[in-house]
Amino acid sequence: MAILSPSILAADAMRLGEDIQGIKNNGCRWVHVDVMDGLFVPNLSFGYSTVKAIRGITDLVLDVHLMIDRPIRYVDDFCKAGADYLTIHVEADTAENTMAALERIRAHGVKPGIVVKPKTPAEAIIPFLEKCDMVLVMTVEPGFGGQKFMADMMPKVKQLRQLLDQVNPSCHLEVDGGVDLTNCQLCKDSGSDVLVAGSAYFKAADKPFFVQELEK
Ligand code: DX5
Ligand code: ZN
Repeated sequence: MAILSPSILAADAMRLGEDIQGIKNNGCRWVHVDVMDGLFVPNLSFGYSTVKAIRGITDLVLDVHLMIDRPIRYVDDFCKAGADYLTIHVEADTAENTMAALERIRAHGVKPGIVVKPKTPAEAIIPFLEKCDMVLVMTVEPGFGGQKFMADMMPKVKQLRQLLDQVNPSCHLEVDGGVDLTNCQLCKDSGSDVLVAGSAYFKAADKPFFVQELEK
């Protein structure tokens, strides 16, 4: 059974609290928060004050995706704000700082994760697999919701599932970007067990049905 992590990037900013309550009421256990700094990606979104506010109103698993340059500068703040999973991009800093950031996240009692952009090969994250509780494969270029799902990322998902089975079998494997009911089975068949959906979740007319189908 898969886990849906709805991305609040597609939520109604004026009704964020209600939308998060809705995520819970519609049967989800997780919520995905996209943090963008305008440098690592050409867009801005939420900061740690938003993560803290969300933590204050929900017991959903807070899956925080940092799309920021040199995340080591901010991981302490996001851990203190109440993230449950905190994922950082392998492209965002040196290998040494990435390792240190993952260790720092773990020291806070938060689950660390590593993310790869579409053009980054699976090999780039091999040194970090044993340090992580989640690996995230981007299925769009990070920065914006509503983009087209890149099915050609599935070989990378399969490759990472195989690698994880050898070195860290309990590690989650998440996909993010353009996921909907037409491609979720492909993601699951490829070895992903956590699926992010922003636009597709928020556009779904029958959200409990969407959650059920996607998590099947
Ligand atoms: C993209 C973000 C995604 C995004 C997904 O940079 O990381 O989490 O919100 O949105 P959809 O599902 O609309 O592609
Ligand atoms: Zn994301």
